[in-house]
Amino acid sequence: MSEQAPNADRRFLYVVVCAAGIAADVSKLITAAQERDWEVGVIATPAAMGGFFDTEAVQAQTGRPIRSAWRRPGDPRPFPPPDAVVVAPATFNTVNKWAAGMADTLAVATLCEASGLGVPVAVLPCVADALAAHPAYRESLARLRGMGVRFGEPYAGQPAQDGARPEFAWERALDLLDGRQ
Ligand SMILES: Cc1cc2nc3c(=O)[nH]c(=O)nc-3n(C[C@H](O)[C@H](O)[C@H](O)COP(=O)(O)O)c2cc1C
Repeated sequence: MSEQAPNADRRFLYVVVCAAGIAADVSKLITAAQERDWEVGVIATPAAMGGFFDTEAVQAQTGRPIRSAWRRPGDPRPFPPPDAVVVAPATFNTVNKWAAGMADTLAVATLCEASGLGVPVAVLPCVADALAAHPAYRESLARLRGMGVRFGEPYAGQPAQDGARPEFAWERALDLLDGRQ
């Protein structure tokens, strides 16, 4: 795993991590982003901080603390403003709260603000088919797309007949930011 010293000259990417099992591999996204010359700061949902990925390894990889709670009034902003935001993996819960404007975690509040700031946002959902069939989820996707948010292909994480799980297309998020459809 690569480790990167903070560099103020690089474009700054917020990687928002939600509490889905595939989050255990988020270091793959961070490595790919750093290889494309992004400086990365991770914002995780409180649920994601509960054992879904190796927080110490990610802090070492990004050279920055993971953010999950709001800073205290008067404290400096831990990250510079974002040039872009990736949400990967994005859960059913976070997508629906974001679309509804329920900013009850730092992660969702950051997403709610990003579109208003004109910052590009790319999302890789990891949502089981049974949940993705819920009408609220379909409406959330439509609403967020209408705000200019870019989505990767649906990923349910369900194993195929041979038991193997399909690859999660981490780099797709970076392609979406580059405007690749
Ligand atoms: C082991 C495990 C794996 C999970 N995987 C997913 C998943 O892939 N997608 C999803 O939407 N929720 C998944 N969940 C449920 C979420 O963790 C739960 O809805 C949580 O409230 C999401 O919080 P967040 O959106 O704030 O991260 C999983 C839960 C557990 C315990």
